[in-house]
Amino acid sequence: MATTTGPDDGSAGAPSPTSSVAWDPARYLRFAGERARPFADLTARIDAGAPSTVVDLGCGEGALTASLSHRWPGALVTGVDSSATMLAAAAAHAVPGRVEFAAGNVEDWAPDDPVDVVVSNAVLHWVPGHDRLMAGWAAQLAPGGWLAVQVPGNFRAPTHTLLRGLCRSSRWSTQVAAAAPDVDAVLDPAGYYDVLTDAGLAADVWETTYVHVLTGDDPVLAWVRSTVLRPVLAMLDEDDAAELTAVYAAALREAYPPRSDGTTLLPFRRIFAVGCRPS
Ligand SMILES: C[S@@+](CC[C@H](N)C(=O)[O-])C[C@H]1O[C@@H](n2cnc3c(N)ncnc32)[C@H](O)[C@@H]1O
Repeated sequence: MATTTGPDDGSAGAPSPTSSVAWDPARYLRFAGERARPFADLTARIDAGAPSTVVDLGCGEGALTASLSHRWPGALVTGVDSSATMLAAAAAHAVPGRVEFAAGNVEDWAPDDPVDVVVSNAVLHWVPGHDRLMAGWAAQLAPGGWLAVQVPGNFRAPTHTLLRGLCRSSRWSTQVAAAAPDVDAVLDPAGYYDVLTDAGLAADVWETTYVHVLTGDDPVLAWVRSTVLRPVLAMLDEDDAAELTAVYAAALREAYPPRSDGTTLLPFRRIFAVGCRPS
């Protein structure tokens, strides 16, 4: 697995190459429904009855974290994130003693006691070497504990190859090559199976391609603005950002053409890995 750029905004943990890039919860939530579904599909495979401790690593703006408390009302659910903007939004979902949020880099997470459920949804593609990190998290599980991870598997999709090509082109490489999306940011599903089983967990690994039905003008551009495009634009001044965005938008329109009914289809592959420590 190769290195990639990090997304945190520097509020916790070590600075990354894009440490000044803040997450934008409002922009991220524009596609809240589409983003919630993989979280639901992931956590549906966790067969924990009544866990006491549930941790959501890279919790983001907290709504999905809070949903875990509805499923397991007896648990203390803790969300950890390095983004001050995401944590500020998450504060609205806090319920003292039931749903709490903490600033932290997931790479440094080390609980005082074994944990019953660890979830990390759409986070680890930002973390280089996360296979080793997952092995460490598996070691923190209580007997019968669960680890559930989902990462995007779309690093070879046009959204990413087009942006990678632009970032590495002669026009832009001196400014943004470092933010080009990395084709090796995640493992293939079998790789995650090995990570979980090597850590002593019973593993359940799968992939799904969701076909998101988007509406409006340049909806794929709107989608990537809150994710893979964000660290690229953060390295440019306003004029250069507008120029790169215009070229990228045109290429996205060609790759994801609007259909006659006005919708645009965005196929989005995701990889799921769920493991359980034997009791
Ligand atoms: C795509 S969002 C996903 C948020 C949430 N898990 C969800 O499913 O909606 C990625 C989140 O991971 C956080 N993140 C990325 N790298 C992190 C790190 N090393 N430590 C802590 N949080 C991190 C970001 O701040 C961001 O909130």
